[in-house]
Amino acid sequence: MSIEITGEILPQESKELTSARYVPEDEGEFSLRPQTLKEYIGQKKAKENLSVFIEAARRREEALDHVLLHGPPGLGKTTLAQIIANEMGVSIRKTSGPAIEKPRDLAALLTNLNDHDILFVDEIHRLNRSVEEILYPAMEDGEIDIILGQGPSANSIRLPLKKFTLIGATTRSGQISAPLRDRFGVILKLELYTPEELELIIRRSAELLSIGIEPSGAEEIARRCRGTPRIANRLLKRVRDFAEVTADGVITKAVADDALTRLDIDRLGLDNVDRKLLRSIIQQYGGGPVGLDTLAATVNEETVTIEDVYEPYLLQQGFLTRTPRGRCVTKLAYEHLGLPFPMENNRNDGQIKMDF
Ligand code: ADE
Repeated sequence: MSIEITGEILPQESKELTSARYVPEDEGEFSLRPQTLKEYIGQKKAKENLSVFIEAARRREEALDHVLLHGPPGLGKTTLAQIIANEMGVSIRKTSGPAIEKPRDLAALLTNLNDHDILFVDEIHRLNRSVEEILYPAMEDGEIDIILGQGPSANSIRLPLKKFTLIGATTRSGQISAPLRDRFGVILKLELYTPEELELIIRRSAELLSIGIEPSGAEEIARRCRGTPRIANRLLKRVRDFAEVTADGVITKAVADDALTRLDIDRLGLDNVDRKLLRSIIQQYGGGPVGLDTLAATVNEETVTIEDVYEPYLLQQGFLTRTPRGRCVTKLAYEHLGLPFPMENNRNDGQIKMDF
C-alpha cells in the first residue's frame, strides 16, 4: 500500500540519542508503529476527533477532508497518516516538501492517485511557492492546470483529479502560508506524550521486540525520553544493550537508571545540549532574555533545531520561558543544574527578571 518514504534523513554526525529527528538507526521503528487508531497510544483528543471524521467519511463513501498534522518531531505524524489510510482502507503515497522540486513533480503525484487515496507530504512547510500554487486548486476544486509547451505557443489545460485527501505534516505550522492552511479541513496539533502514555508505548515495543522489562524499568525510560515515542523506542534498544551486557537481560529500574546515566541523559531526560543551552543562558546572559539566534550561535546549533527539537521539552518541563525579548530560564533550571539562583531574581513565580 505505501509506496515510498522520502522523509529527510539526517547526516550521521547528528545521530544523537535524544534527537527527536528521524535517523537511519530508527529503521526498525517501522515494525513498532501501530497500524490502527485502537493500537495508537496517546494524542487522545486528535485520535477521538479523527475517528469521528474517518467514520463519517466512510459512511458517506467520500474521501476524508484534507488533514494538517503539526507538532514537534518524533510524535507520530507519519504513523498517524498511515493509520488514517489503513482505517479508510485506501492507498497512501508518501513524500516530503523538499522532494517535490517542480510543479510537474506534484502534478505527476496527483494524477497518479486513485479515488479517495491519500497523498502524504511531510515537512509541507518546505514546499516551494510554485509547487504550492498547484496545490490550491487541487485541494479546493479537485483539478490542476497543466502548461503544455513553452513560450508564446504554450497552452494551459485543466485536468480533473480523482477525489483525494492531502495529509500535510509539519513541525513549523507558523511557516505554512495562510492560503495553504485555509485549505485544510482538519488541523490537528500533536502534543508531547505524558510519562504514563510513554510507559505504555515502551511496554508495547518491548513486547514486540521480546525485550524483558519490569514496569519500573519502563517507567524510568518513559520519564527520560523527552515526551517523544521515537526517543523512547531508541532508548529502549540502547538500555536493552546494557541489560544484556551488564545485567541478566531484563530492564529493571536500576538497569535503566544506570544505562541512561551512562548515556548522559539525566533523571528528567535532559541531554548535554539541553544542559549546555540552559547553562549558557545563565552564565553568559544572566538568565536571559536572550534572542534565539544569539543562543543558537552560542551553543553552535541551528536555530530551527533549538526551536523544534530542544525548546518544546524545556518549555514543557518548565525550565525555559519565551518572552517577547527572548528566552529566559526559570528558577527550576538553576536548581536542576545545581547553580545558585541570584537573589535579585527571587520573585515568587520563579521567573527571571525582565526589564521591559
Ligand atoms: N510507537 C510509537 N508511537 C506509538 C504510539 N503513539 N502508540 C503506540 N505505539 C507507538
